[in-house]
Amino acid sequence: MYTGIIDHYRKYLPVNDDMPIVSLNEGNTPLIRLNNIPRTLGKEVELYVKFEGANPTGSFKDRGMTMAVSKAVEKGSRAIICASTGNTSAAAAAYAARAGIRCFVLIPDGKIALGKLAQAMMHGSVVIQIQGNFDDGMRLVKEVARQTPVTIVNSINPLRLQGQKTISFEIIDTLGTAPDYHCLPVGNAGNISAHWLGYCEYMEAGLTDSRPVIAGYQAFGAAPFVLGQKVDRPETVATAIRIGDPQSWDKAWQASRESNGWFDRFRDEEILEMQHELAQREGIFCEPASAVSLLGALHDIKKGKIPEGKRVVCTLTGHGLKDPDAAIKQSSAARLKVKPTLDSVRAVILDNMG
Ligand code: F0G
Repeated sequence: MYTGIIDHYRKYLPVNDDMPIVSLNEGNTPLIRLNNIPRTLGKEVELYVKFEGANPTGSFKDRGMTMAVSKAVEKGSRAIICASTGNTSAAAAAYAARAGIRCFVLIPDGKIALGKLAQAMMHGSVVIQIQGNFDDGMRLVKEVARQTPVTIVNSINPLRLQGQKTISFEIIDTLGTAPDYHCLPVGNAGNISAHWLGYCEYMEAGLTDSRPVIAGYQAFGAAPFVLGQKVDRPETVATAIRIGDPQSWDKAWQASRESNGWFDRFRDEEILEMQHELAQREGIFCEPASAVSLLGALHDIKKGKIPEGKRVVCTLTGHGLKDPDAAIKQSSAARLKVKPTLDSVRAVILDNMG
């Protein structure tokens, strides 16, 4: 039986044999080759998505959280805390519930997707909505943890990156080698740093002889890496990456530099269109922030920045079900109301056979 990333990749993680493992069997997510979208590109590429929405709480955060919470428990911590745009809080709440410890989450009031809020509440965390954004929450978490016995489980906790690096291991284990390009969304920048860490460690271990170019994509109104400086009032419909002051700033630049990668940014409308297109044409439902990875990849393939004949992996960081509002807002056309009669239902079917 598969029992999660710590058991599976124990050799590459900072764990002792007697460490209590808090796991929900995270990881082992599907790497799916896209068929329909690349066909219309007019370019020959091998394009894959790593669907992290298939994790137990619906995002990649579970990989890091199993490490951070297991270590917190090992050290005798009774409570964890994080600031979050939603997914970290969902994962923290779930793993704290599993461990039987307290969880405090600071989230931006009114700016997190409904599904994520539901998760944090359902798992019994103490939800503190602050009248500010993620960056304000992050600052407060650091301050409060200095004076209170709580363990921070944001990605400034290095154990989070240790867990999250296993995504790169899985990709190499599945493909037999590293991809040529890896595209992913960037918010607080822990994940891009973790991806690079994973690729580097597998190369050192002799399990791949190459590492991918790392392309990091942001939303237009929350693009500190593209602008080269902090953004004071980040704004985007992709609330997961509505961040102006990324904590892993230096590590992310290092990943980008060492891999000969780049950063770019895209507008909210394009992000939502991409999310919709992926759902409609490939049957994969990711959240808006996740769609920016594929949007960026397709953009750069079309421009030739990613050349033909290459193997490209995009991380789809979270599940579309997290954010039902964003999905329903752009899908109104498909909802029809009819009388409960055979004729009216048949008429709709015949009209819509395509
Ligand atoms: N995609 C999703 C769905 C996310 O939730 C996040 C981050 C990212 C991408 C960006 O990852 O921060 O490591 O660069 N969400 C955090 C949270 C900030 O609080 O859930 P990153």
